[in-house]
Amino acid sequence: MQYNVVVIGSGPGGYVAAIRCAQLGMKVAIVEKYNTLGGTCLNVGCIPSKALLDSSEHFHNAAHTFKEHGIDINAPKVNIGQMIKRKGDVVKANVDGIAYLMKKNKIDVHTGVGSFVDKNTIKVTNDGKETTLTAEKVIIATGSKPTPLPFAAFDKKKIISSTEALELKEVPKHMIVIGGGVIGMELGSVYARIGAKVTVVEFLDSLIPTMDGTMGKELQKATKKLGMDFYLGHKVTAVENKGKEVIVKAEPKNGGAAIELKGDYCLVSIGRRPYTDGLGLEKVGIELDKGKIPVDDHLKTKVDNIYAIGDVVRGAMLAHKAEEEGVMVAEQMAGQKPHINYNLIPGVVYTWPEVASVGYTEEQLKEQGRAYKTGSFPYKALGRARASMDLDGLVKILADKTTDEILGIHIIGARAADMIAAGVVAMEYRASAEDVSRMSHAHPTYMEAVKEACLAATANRPLHM
Ligand code: FAD
Ligand code: NAI
Repeated sequence: MQYNVVVIGSGPGGYVAAIRCAQLGMKVAIVEKYNTLGGTCLNVGCIPSKALLDSSEHFHNAAHTFKEHGIDINAPKVNIGQMIKRKGDVVKANVDGIAYLMKKNKIDVHTGVGSFVDKNTIKVTNDGKETTLTAEKVIIATGSKPTPLPFAAFDKKKIISSTEALELKEVPKHMIVIGGGVIGMELGSVYARIGAKVTVVEFLDSLIPTMDGTMGKELQKATKKLGMDFYLGHKVTAVENKGKEVIVKAEPKNGGAAIELKGDYCLVSIGRRPYTDGLGLEKVGIELDKGKIPVDDHLKTKVDNIYAIGDVVRGAMLAHKAEEEGVMVAEQMAGQKPHINYNLIPGVVYTWPEVASVGYTEEQLKEQGRAYKTGSFPYKALGRARASMDLDGLVKILADKTTDEILGIHIIGARAADMIAAGVVAMEYRASAEDVSRMSHAHPTYMEAVKEACLAATANRPLHM
């Protein structure tokens, strides 16, 4: 079978690349080793985790805030089987949607493991059956897998990754989370909200450490209210599955007394690693760099007709980053000159309050030695936040000291995930903090905190504080 483009991997990088290639008139095939399309994001990542975050938030509100709103109900109970089933239904609707999009765009789907025979030939193996595809161009979009601890493999029962944490049959009594990054905080908060004791052990001194430091501190305060416990600056030294319980040992990295935690589940969320097993990269002479496929600024590998995108290459491991790269590669193949502004790819943590960021963090600006100013505004001063009782959170704006150009927007609070899009637009058009502060923001909305933080950054003149 002959194609202009073969895409290996059907996650957000791969399926979006395939659609854009098809839109641009290319004959396209996509190869996926699993029976459902959509990759990590749709099957075991973004979508199922958000489904559980939403369910657990409803439960939390029913148990803790309905009364205050004047809604009297009997104490709600968790039906974890139904929660997981609904999550499965949400996943199915989404992955079926991708199958429909492939059909609509006349993209051939080949189920099986794709591997290179040579730079223009891909072998697809499924249950011993082989199909050979030839392609003028190939896009590798094989994604990533959870990283295990070097001394404690995932046993998938008690020592689990995010994949198993999305499928639990019971509410853990005590879930120990290793790694206070995005997965640890999102899935940790799911189980904390529905009644588990959750303890997070993080190696660095802050939660979600790649984000602006203020966000980590505020998120810690907010999630402590859910009963989550934190051991920051701790190095895990042992994790043992003892049958009924898991034992985690850790010691403060700067010295001090070791701790021993006992739980019934240990979620290991210490990052993900690019996935290239079985791809046969050696057949085309591509060597990995720290596990990643090296690419140039155009996402081209060292082999002229082979591109790579998404989690398997450098940069943030985010679905929307993978999608942008898929579009960029397709458009380049069609002779266009697309561009990605990597600094303006937003990052979101879907806890409640949500955390969302775009641009530079304060730590990065300090490191660059750039002269900057800051403006902040707390949610608790917003009428909208009082009405909804979502008082935790703040907006922090970083702007150039001289030009007032916005350099970073960091939000923790209700609806931050949706609000950050406005920040991306402002920064893409190189708005100053004063520009944003002079635009009308509907009242009462959470977005007023962005306007007020911009006023604070411009000349320390917020109106409502
Ligand atoms: P993937 O989605 O990993 O897809 C790669 C696909 O390639 C897989 O289906 C795999 O089976 C297939 N494949 C691999 N090798 C072969 C082969 N040889 N032959 C055939 N097929 C192959 N990101 C966000 O932006 N927002 C979120 O809210 C978010 N939440 C997440 C929650 C969790 C729990 C996890 C684990 C991740 C989350 N992510 C989120 C990250 C996001 O899922 C990834 O960044 C994204 O899926 C990367 O897309 P990709 O196309 O590069 O790879
Ligand atoms: P992460 O990189 O976000 O967090 C890992 C955390 O583990 C870091 O804080 C790190 O300091 C810590 N850590 C590393 N080794 C450790 C050790 N030995 N002991 C204790 N702590 C240790 O990775 P995570 O949470 O596993 O997620 C993987 C990727 O998936 C993320 O990088 C993110 O890009 C993506 N993702 C995105 C989401 C979103 O956009 N909302 C949601 C979930 C995942």
